[in-house]
Amino acid sequence: PMVLAVVAVLAYLLGSIPFGVVITRGLGLGDLRAIGSGNIGATNVLRTGNKGAAAATLILDAGKGGIAVLIARAIVGPDAAQLAGFAAFFGHLFPVWSGFRGGKGVATFLGTLLALAWPVGLAACGTWLAVAALGRISSLAALVAAASAALWMLMFGHGDMVALCVVLTLMVYWRHAENIRRIRAGTEPRIGKKG
Ligand code: G3P
Repeated sequence: PMVLAVVAVLAYLLGSIPFGVVITRGLGLGDLRAIGSGNIGATNVLRTGNKGAAAATLILDAGKGGIAVLIARAIVGPDAAQLAGFAAFFGHLFPVWSGFRGGKGVATFLGTLLALAWPVGLAACGTWLAVAALGRISSLAALVAAASAALWMLMFGHGDMVALCVVLTLMVYWRHAENIRRIRAGTEPRIGKKG
């Protein structure tokens, strides 16, 4: 009903704040759209050479998903929490503030997972870190971590959140089409390298 529509709109607006763009511009690091992959996420902020800016982008992009979930759950309930997570993620991909040209959703997905079911969030973050440590490719780590999310939900007994994970994972894969092409061609840049 009405309250769910309000939750969805507010979470969408929060999710659509492009922290990478705001931070990069604010620090005078240049136009993120003209750097590296042109993406607005923490991985691309790292290509400016500023690790603090990249860390802040990661935390804030994850945080907006997590906060949306926590507030919706506290005020309305568990179904609203899932809706808020989806809406924040959707906002990151299609931000009203920047002509609907958004990001790939990895950090916001992870933040949403941490708030929905923290063991699942930790397991997905651990999956990202493990793959990143092995291959040094951020997008590959994201693709594996995203695919793992639904499995972690099942393993930790959250069958009611598997469908949400599958939908978000499919959207993450769709947004990584170029990355997947570069991974297959062996040309995807390593973490931290200007690419
Ligand atoms: O979070 C996005 C990451 O998986 C890839 O970023 O800039 O290398 O396309 P980028």
